[in-house]
Amino acid sequence: MTNASPPFQPSTEQAPPGAAPGRAGWLERLFGLRMLIMLAVAFGLAVPGWLVALQEAKAIEKENMLQLQTDLQQLTELGAESLREALWQIYPELGEPIIQAIFRDPRVKLMRVQDSRGSKPFFEHQRPLEVGEAVISLKREVLYQGRPVGSLELSLSTLQASQRAEAAQRGILLRTALSLASSLLLAFIVLQWRLVRPIEYLKRASGRLARQALDEPIHLQRSDELGQLAQSMEATRVALARAFSELTASQQALREHAGGLELRVAERTRELEESNLHLSEVINNLSRAQSELIEADRLASLGRMVAGIAHELNTPLGSSLTMVSTLLDHHRSLSRAVGQAALRRSQLDEFLATLGEGLHIAERNVNRAVEMVDKFRQVAVDQTSEQRRRFDLAVFMAELQLTLSPNFKRSAYTVHVAIPPDLIFDSYPGPLGQVISNLELNALVHGFDGRSSGNIWLSAALVDDGMVRISVRDDGVGMSATVREHIFDPFFTTRLGRGGSGLGLAIVYNIVTGMLGGRISVNSQPEQGAEFVLELPLHAPTGDAPTRSEALPPLSQTSDC
Ligand SMILES: Nc1ncnc2c1ncn2[C@@H]1O[C@H](COP(=O)(O)OP(=O)(O)O)[C@@H](O)[C@H]1O
Ligand SMILES: [Mg+2]
Repeated sequence: MTNASPPFQPSTEQAPPGAAPGRAGWLERLFGLRMLIMLAVAFGLAVPGWLVALQEAKAIEKENMLQLQTDLQQLTELGAESLREALWQIYPELGEPIIQAIFRDPRVKLMRVQDSRGSKPFFEHQRPLEVGEAVISLKREVLYQGRPVGSLELSLSTLQASQRAEAAQRGILLRTALSLASSLLLAFIVLQWRLVRPIEYLKRASGRLARQALDEPIHLQRSDELGQLAQSMEATRVALARAFSELTASQQALREHAGGLELRVAERTRELEESNLHLSEVINNLSRAQSELIEADRLASLGRMVAGIAHELNTPLGSSLTMVSTLLDHHRSLSRAVGQAALRRSQLDEFLATLGEGLHIAERNVNRAVEMVDKFRQVAVDQTSEQRRRFDLAVFMAELQLTLSPNFKRSAYTVHVAIPPDLIFDSYPGPLGQVISNLELNALVHGFDGRSSGNIWLSAALVDDGMVRISVRDDGVGMSATVREHIFDPFFTTRLGRGGSGLGLAIVYNIVTGMLGGRISVNSQPEQGAEFVLELPLHAPTGDAPTRSEALPPLSQTSDC
């Protein structure tokens, strides 16, 4: 699964357009959706209804007033026409019936007829006004044959007209209120049935979705927006249910897989432990074999030394022996002559001369042998122990060469030693001897392999304060870059099966960088010979210096260390 977000976390939904929770939220919480819609309907209906009703009432009032004015005009006209004769003849009774008829109208509050010639009114009828009652009045001249003969003033009460207008207004308001109430009732029923109940149903359904109760289907039998909402919620429910079941299945599979994995890991761990055990056994065996090989190398170098000593001692001791045998022969013939009493003076003199010379020769040879033994004793002590002592490098090298000489003497291989005097070391001569003899013998074995002659140059110089540079160079076959890279690796040899162990240079490296506290490097090209350069301190490091037989350097040690 690549989806990193947890599947059941509720996502932050985007607010739908138009929903402003900050502003509208409190209203919705206070009234609820149904109440809000009802209020909206009520206001929507009430305000225009009220305005229309007011408008209508005003129109009715205006119409009533217009009607009243028309009536006033007609009545005044009628009165003025009927009073013309009576005013002309100044005979009031003539107009009486008409006046009476007009005055019978209850709206007429004042009717005054003025004669233009007399000062007091011709007629005057008046009704008392009620409190707050208003009137409209009209005064008109009465003309007879074009000449004014008097005037008629008429006042009509507006009370009736305004009462009629009020009644009409009340009717309009009642109608508006009734239609509002019935609209509200209908809106309530429709809301309840078409909106609120389905919304509550959907609310319950979405609560079930949130609780992950996904068994009950969501269904609304309608095709409007709410029906579509229900359909999409149902689609969500189905998708969620499928996703959950897939998730459960994959979790199950994962659990099973994890179980299998654990088993496999445990099995692998056991196998690894076994092979670890096996490996550590192998390593133990290897390091045992290594120590044995190192010991063998040391014994071999001791053996070489003993052979060298024996070879060197052989010459003086052999000459001494020959001389002593010759003297014994002379002694025997002298004794015989004495026994036969035939000893001549000349014979005795000859014997004495031979004896003196012979004893001199024997003494010289024995002395040489003693001297040699003396030197060898030091070399032997050095080689067999790891003693630290002060020694002169030139003297030490000369003695060492003596022990190696048998390897070179028999052939045309020459060692040129050029060590300046007074390089006084305070170090470990035994291990240093092992190093030098290993390098020289390597030149012999590898460098001069297949050659009848060769040279080795052994030189030393003080390079730095307290550091001596020793070079062991040969003019042998040299080595390739690949060989050069690996020569210090333990067990690396180009003479496998031909006496090579591959340990010589590894031990050399170990001794030089360990006990002697120095460095070693090699310069060599094929057919250009090889030069090993040691840089050694005159004072070897003190403290827990490692011994010769301690661990070898790691594999693939680079050559220019
Ligand atoms: N003077 C030399 N000239 C040429 N090759 C040499 C010389 N010294 C050492 N080597 C190479 O280095 C290898 C490793 O030497 P060493 O560690 O002494 O092992 P071994 O002598 O047992 O082969 C030799 O097998 C040889 O190939
Ligand atoms: Mg070797």
